[in-house]
Order: sequence, then structure tokens, then C-alpha cells
Amino acid sequence: MKAARIYGAKDIRIEDVDIPDPEDDQVQIKVKYCGICGSDLHAYLQGWGLPKEPHPITGRTLPITLGHEFSGQVVKLGKNVSNLKIGDKVAIEPVIACGECENCRKGQYNLCIKAQAKDGAGNFLGFSQDGGFAEYANVKSVFAHKLPAGMNYEIGALAEPTAVVYEALKRSRLRAGQDVAIMGAGPIGLLMALLARIAGANHIFIVDLSEVRLHKAEELGFINTINPGKEDAAETIKGVLPNGVDIAYEAAGVQATFDTALKVTKRGGTLQIVALFGRPITFDMTKDLIMQGINIITTICYNNSFPQVLGILNNNKDLFDKIITKKISLDQLVDQGIKEISADKQQVKILVSAED
Ligand SMILES: NC(=O)c1ccc[n+]([C@@H]2O[C@H](COP(=O)([O-])OP(=O)(O)OC[C@H]3O[C@@H](n4cnc5c(N)ncnc54)[C@H](O)[C@@H]3O)[C@@H](O)[C@H]2O)c1
Ligand SMILES: [Zn+2]
Ligand SMILES: [Zn+2]
Repeated sequence: MKAARIYGAKDIRIEDVDIPDPEDDQVQIKVKYCGICGSDLHAYLQGWGLPKEPHPITGRTLPITLGHEFSGQVVKLGKNVSNLKIGDKVAIEPVIACGECENCRKGQYNLCIKAQAKDGAGNFLGFSQDGGFAEYANVKSVFAHKLPAGMNYEIGALAEPTAVVYEALKRSRLRAGQDVAIMGAGPIGLLMALLARIAGANHIFIVDLSEVRLHKAEELGFINTINPGKEDAAETIKGVLPNGVDIAYEAAGVQATFDTALKVTKRGGTLQIVALFGRPITFDMTKDLIMQGINIITTICYNNSFPQVLGILNNNKDLFDKIITKKISLDQLVDQGIKEISADKQQVKILVSAED
């Protein structure tokens, strides 16, 4: 079968590889769509998250088939699989976890202790186990979630990035009627805004330096868009809400947006970090956090949320469909996919199909 395998930074090869039969607790998926994520770009450009030594759970090193945002159809069942049947349409939760450590037993399998690699390799399919930029993938059956009836594979491929923001929403404990500000209108910021609105947020401010991205937010119905290159974002938000917002979501990941997020968070409010920061940042712990009673909460991936996320996507299919801006084939992955999401802000979510 065809697969896009990464050998290291700037080295992705579309190759013909064999796929083994699924293990006893796995199913084999015929991949339909796999979304390109910013972290695939970082894997490609800097080798971020890739296993340089054998991963503690999978034992895998490079090369690895990239791709972790995928949907597909079940075509083979491992011996012990009882929750799925051949032909089922599924979305994949691409987490690698042992299922036995303290955190796994608590349900926090996204923070599996055994899956933590010393070299920083990600505990996800597409990083430390073969992922979805391929014709087929073998995945643990418990991590293959049935799509609701009538949901197409394109929307199914959005489950993974939507689960990221759903986890952030849960951790921030947003309640209907609260005001929020979102830093960054990339795929994650836009999905965050959609979920905040669905959850009943009142004011939703979206801050981004890119006019193109802000237009996309407006296309999705968000009117409070702010370009900090043109106006002081904190002043604009405080002009409307003098006390600030209940929750600021940081989905850009740079010092400037962190500073704005902190400034606009109400005394006693929550600063919910979603972005991964490319470099260390500084802040005044005592003055700006402790004395303001602001809590910073981080999040990584998700746990126990795919069924809920698939339900939300299914109830709002037309809205989420607008996040998908392009579909390409596997052969076009690097030139028209990975390179393009870094160069063209028009692109929000590019889906890759391994089918001809
Ligand atoms: N926590 C998790 O589990 C998790 C999962 C997936 C992605 N992420 C992270 O979420 C973040 C967002 O992902 P994405 O795919 O949307 O990324 P993206 O790069 O497409 O979006 C970031 C946006 O921030 C904007 N931005 C950059 N600097 C800015 C500034 N100074 N002021 C205002 N806006 C600015 C950019 O224009 C861009 O639109 C990334 O850091 C990514 O690594 C985290
Ligand atoms: Zn991703
Ligand atoms: Zn574990």
C-alpha cells in the first residue's frame, strides 16, 4: 500500500509498504481522510515529536507513517475485537497509552506515564506508531469510534482537532453566558471559538494578526475580531468589558498573545493554554497572576471525549464543514499540503485522501 513515511526533518517519502494483519486488539482501517495538523508541519520542518530512539511502548523509531487526524472504514478485525464490525465507519483517537499505569487507570491516558519518551517523541499515532497518511492503518479497536449515522468521512477527520479544543473547553469549565477571548484564529483557535459558541459563550473575541484568518472567523459568524497589528487588542476588549473576560484561550503560543490573554482575563478568571509555545516566555507571577487570582490551566490532547465530540460535529455539520478548505491526494502531501499550510493562511484544514 501507499504510505507517506517520515525519515527525519524535511524528508517525507511516499512509499509502497506492506501492512501486517491487525493484532488481536486492533482493527484495520481503510483510511478515507487524514487532516494535516500544525504539528505535522513541525515534524517536517524541525523533526519535532519524532522518535529518535525506540518508543517505550511501540518500540518504533523512524521511519514512521505520519498523520493523526483520520477517519476510515473497518476492513479487518483482530481476534479479540467485539466493539466493531467490518464496514463500520470510524474516527480514530490517535493516542498511544499503556492502559495500566496510574494515569491510564485514572482515565488520564493522554498522560500515560509509560508512553513518555525520553527524546520527546509524541505518544500519538503518526509520531511513534504508523498513522493515517496511508491507504490502511492498524489501530486499537477501543480508539476507533463509530461515526454517527449520516456523518461523512470528511467531518469524521475533524474529530481529532475538535477533541483538542473540547478538552480545553472542559478544563476551563466554561459556562453558558460567560465571556471569552481567543488568541489565534488558526484551525485550533477557530474550532475553539465554534465550541465556545456552541457551549453558550456570550462575547467571543478573536485576536489574530492575519486578516485572512480574521475573515475566516467572520465567515463563521464571529463579529468581534481584532487585529493587534491595527489596534491594541487588550484596550479594545476592555472597552467593551472593562473587567475583562471570564476565560482567555491562548491558541497562538507566543509572548505577545500570552501577554494580551493575561491582560484581558478578569480578576479571578482563567487563562486556558491550548497552544504549544515554540520558546520559553516570561510573566510576572506575583503581580499579574497571584494578585489577580488568575488560574493558568494547560491541556494536552484529550481523554474520554471522542463520542461527545462526534455528537457535537454531527449536530453542526455545515458549520464545521467550513473549516475544511482543501482536499488533496497522498502524492501531493508535501508540496500542496504541508508546505502550503505554512505559507497560505487561507488554508485552515487540508484533508488528504489516500484513495485515487
Ligand atoms: N494542547 C494540545 O493538545 C494541542 C493540540 C493541537 C495543537 N496545539 C497547538 O495549538 C496551537 C494552534 O494551532 P493551529 O494549528 O491553530 O496553529 P496556527 O499556526 O495555524 O495558528 C496560530 C495563529 O496565531 C496567529 N498569531 C501568531 N502570532 C500572533 C500574534 N503575535 N498576535 C496574534 N495572532 C498571532 C497566527 O496568525 C495564526 O493564525 C499551536 O501551538 C499548536 O501546536 C495544541
Ligand atoms: Zn494534530
Ligand atoms: Zn499508561
